[in-house]
Amino acid sequence: MRVAMIGTGYVGLVSGTCFADFGHDVTCVDKDAGKIAALNKGEVPIYEPGLADLVASNARAGRLKFSTALADAVKAADAVFIAVGTPSRRGDGHADLTFVYDAAREIAAALSGFTVVITKSTVPVGTGDEVERIIREANPRADCAVVSNPEFLREGAALQDFKHPDRIVVGTDDEKACEAMSELYRPLYLNRAPIMFTGRRTAELIKYAANAFLATKISFINEIADLAEKVGADVQDIARGIGLDNRIGAKFLHAGPGYGGSCFPKDTVALLKTGLDHGAPLRIVEAVTAVNDARKRAMARKVQGALGGDIRGKTIAVLGLTFKPKTDDMREAPSIPLITALQDMGAKVRAYDPVGMEQAKPLLGNVAFCGSAYECAEGASALVIVTEWEEFRALDFERLKKVMARPLLVDLRNVYSAEEVMRHGFGYESVGRAAKAKS
Ligand SMILES: NC(=O)c1ccc[n+]([C@@H]2O[C@H](COP(=O)([O-])OP(=O)(O)OC[C@H]3O[C@@H](n4cnc5c(N)ncnc54)[C@H](O)[C@@H]3O)[C@@H](O)[C@H]2O)c1
Repeated sequence: MRVAMIGTGYVGLVSGTCFADFGHDVTCVDKDAGKIAALNKGEVPIYEPGLADLVASNARAGRLKFSTALADAVKAADAVFIAVGTPSRRGDGHADLTFVYDAAREIAAALSGFTVVITKSTVPVGTGDEVERIIREANPRADCAVVSNPEFLREGAALQDFKHPDRIVVGTDDEKACEAMSELYRPLYLNRAPIMFTGRRTAELIKYAANAFLATKISFINEIADLAEKVGADVQDIARGIGLDNRIGAKFLHAGPGYGGSCFPKDTVALLKTGLDHGAPLRIVEAVTAVNDARKRAMARKVQGALGGDIRGKTIAVLGLTFKPKTDDMREAPSIPLITALQDMGAKVRAYDPVGMEQAKPLLGNVAFCGSAYECAEGASALVIVTEWEEFRALDFERLKKVMARPLLVDLRNVYSAEEVMRHGFGYESVGRAAKAKS
């Protein structure tokens, strides 16, 4: 099939490349001419494991093209995906649908022959109806069906997730659109990935319900971690103890500095707004966001507490800045409010991230950016693991001790056990694991 992917960001580039890899003929479109020029030179603008190779092989095979010319790509396409950003609207937290509606208007003008227009961006319930209205108004003769097909891939594991999804959700009641969507995803269908057809509004809400539920698991285990610290219990064992119950499941039960990233923070807030607009407030999700918001500064207080209460003038080394490992994405990364809070308390901050330094620099003022974990630790009174990159899992504590002002590790991702760190003469603080947890 001929596919136009409108928006060549984390989702559009991964989805477009994977569809090309399935054998479809894909044009990825973006209005950011710099991004398209880079891709046409073989440079991949984001860090995603395996993506550069897959882009290169499919571009070489002639199945994957990059362009700023939306109209040409849409005219030639059987399927047009909208994969543009839907950030939080400044001021009220509703999803900002400007990019989606602008794209819909541009697409409408260029449609030719029967075309399926598919919203892959995460959009509030009812957006598909509005996209359809915009298209019909702008081009009354257009022969098209508007479908919702939310994306569930995770940055850092995006190719694996796209090619081996737990499910594919397709929201439409148009028969021709169902056939087209089955054809697009046929290679996955053959792999027995469940493809679920449902109403368009239901599909839109599935995406928000999924993200809100995952965020709930995180805030839940973080609150249990706080309680575990107070009562001398171990949150890791609690997570395992409940996660082995199939009804609960072990995933997303890692206590830490709170969720961040390009999706959970904005999607939970947007869902709250949808609930309020429809007179169905979502009290649980409200609590989830409030717990998460409070958590970032609480983590700074944990660092302060580990240093005896006063960190004014002290140097703190922060390891890991991106919102999670294996991505360069800094959107809503917990490291940002954490570092700001440490600076508010009077600390000097040094920082290192294996991949996200360039993205982090414009977002973090007065931070000394370093070339390695060991350089970062120089002169520091505490080393704080904020993002659990692989290279922080086997730190050389003897080497660190030599360069630090004080040997202290605050492990906000519970990467280490107290015993292995303290064996090297380090002080150790983690999340939800009281020092006397096993007693
Ligand atoms: N990032 C994720 O892990 C993830 C996962 C699932 C769903 N989503 C959702 O997918 C959507 C896209 O997210 P993203 O992270 O890929 O965003 P992104 O900001 O990385 O990419 C969006 C791209 O769209 C381009 N764009 C905007 N308007 C355009 C237009 N009219 N024509 C052409 N290009 C246009 C922008 O220039 C940008 O490159 C969002 O709704 C997001 O919530 C993201």
